[in-house]
Amino acid sequence: MARGTFITFEGGEGCGKSTQVRRLKEALEREGHEVVLTREPGGTWLAEEIRRLIKDQESDAPCDRSELLLFLAARAQLVKNVIRPALDAGKWVVSDRFSDSTLAYQGYGRGLPLGILKEMNAFACENLKPDLTILLDVSPETSQARLHAREAATHTVADRIEQAGDEFHARLRAGFAELAKAEPERIVTIDANGGPNEVWEDVWKSTRRFR
Ligand SMILES: Nc1ncnc2c1ncn2[C@@H]1O[C@H](COP(=O)(O)OP(=O)(O)OP(=O)(O)O)[C@@H](O)[C@H]1O
Ligand SMILES: [Mg+2]
Repeated sequence: MARGTFITFEGGEGCGKSTQVRRLKEALEREGHEVVLTREPGGTWLAEEIRRLIKDQESDAPCDRSELLLFLAARAQLVKNVIRPALDAGKWVVSDRFSDSTLAYQGYGRGLPLGILKEMNAFACENLKPDLTILLDVSPETSQARLHAREAATHTVADRIEQAGDEFHARLRAGFAELAKAEPERIVTIDANGGPNEVWEDVWKSTRRFR
């Protein structure tokens, strides 16, 4: 059986990843594909527990290095128990964030050394790489506006990472752009400032070569 296709979505907060991930799943299923959705950190019991620990607003928030290790532990579990088995069974796997987020957040964002992060990523996921990564790029204004709208609509407050300052988010965006520049075959950048339908058209087009 042919191995399945592995697609990841990346980008800053509020760029529309979760929205487009859901659309992609529905569209692929309409075409008769089996699709497994995962989110990072999360997707297994252990990884969801880790997600809770990372996002919690405690005084004892994880330091940069322990945050990195927690993310990688969650990813290792997700790859081994969910992503690999699904791909081996010929299914599509669509993940809301994956390894590139580690490079962007812990590397470009927090300043941990990129070379080490790349090796640790490869170790955690046993060298698994996405076939396609869709980078949704939005301006800081768009990101802020969407997060505020969501907070108002859902009566929630931004989590610890979402509350990091403007400079952090600027480094993140520039970091993602550099990653895309270094791997143009794998990473497709989509301008995600437009409405959901407009963004979706580009997302769907970018997956054509795998369908
Ligand atoms: N293209 C769009 N235009 C306008 N609003 C959008 C668009 N895409 C998503 N939204 C809205 O913006 C908010 C953030 O979208 P979404 O949750 O999909 O982003 P995300 O990248 O998953 O965010 P996070 O990083 O916080 O998980 C949601 O309230 C969503 O309904
Ligand atoms: Mg989301």
